[in-house]
Amino acid sequence: MRVVHTLAELRSHLNAFSRPALVPTMGNLHEGHLALVRQAKPLGDVTVASIFVNRLQFAPHEDFDRYPRTLEADCAQLQAAGCDVVFAPSEAELYPEPQGYKVSPPADLANLLEGHFRPGFFTGVCTVVLKLFHMVQPSAAVFGKKDYQQLIVVKRMVSQLALPIEIHGGETLRAADGLALSSRNGYLSPSERTQAVQLNQALQNMAHSINTLQLTPGDLPALEANATQQLTQLGWQVDYLTVRQRADLQPPPPSETQSSAGNWVVLAAARLGKTRLIDNIEL
Ligand code: PAJ
Repeated sequence: MRVVHTLAELRSHLNAFSRPALVPTMGNLHEGHLALVRQAKPLGDVTVASIFVNRLQFAPHEDFDRYPRTLEADCAQLQAAGCDVVFAPSEAELYPEPQGYKVSPPADLANLLEGHFRPGFFTGVCTVVLKLFHMVQPSAAVFGKKDYQQLIVVKRMVSQLALPIEIHGGETLRAADGLALSSRNGYLSPSERTQAVQLNQALQNMAHSINTLQLTPGDLPALEANATQQLTQLGWQVDYLTVRQRADLQPPPPSETQSSAGNWVVLAAARLGKTRLIDNIEL
């Protein structure tokens, strides 16, 4: 496995290949990231993982400075997962001058859910992802469903900008108790870690009610309000806990009088103490 830090090294190394498969990450890797690397392997002739903590997608009050940076351990794990090239640029390499040109995703997709609570977040994500795409020139890239809205936003960017890149979604890897693996889980205290599973349980309970009771769109607001109240009583600060259409993340139209749960996804973001966690499940 080669670890490269500059665009020049990356380009000269990738010269010999025609179909790179890319997994973009911010490092501090766990099994969820590694599963994406394994998924990427058969999609190209060289597997590239990028590691870059992208300042552009962090708001000033967010955790950019304390985001864990663990390059050595990350590289050891990537090598074991069969990664061929790690691209770990410095900030000066990725943003040699202030990034004035940015990708601004459409408001109807990027200003809801995560985008509502983290204004500018998806502009930061799209800008760095497009830049990484230009640097690596992959024919395929894998993104986790853990960040469901990110996956949809990237898919739509690739489609609208006619980029010749296949975007694949990877299933969410979870700890034994159901908590979605995340670099931010490391911020949780031991008691918060025990409690953290409640977020996934809330999603599971909502999915179970929708499926067993064949709930229709008109039933969803009450279900969401109930689940939000329960999590709040358990000590969470809920940003959102909501059922959406998978394709565009809009609420299912209340005019639909039948359940079309197969097209839905339940998404949540909530804070436990100082740690903000997100999760979702497809119905
Ligand atoms: P990061 O949070 O490091 O995640 C990198 C990739 O791993 C993303 O596609 C994310 O959805 C996926 N991932 C995270 N946890 C996962 C889990 N438990 N199971 C499966 N996949 C998981 O997402 C980002 O970085 C950044 O926004 C990035 C796309 C790199 C742009 O900066």
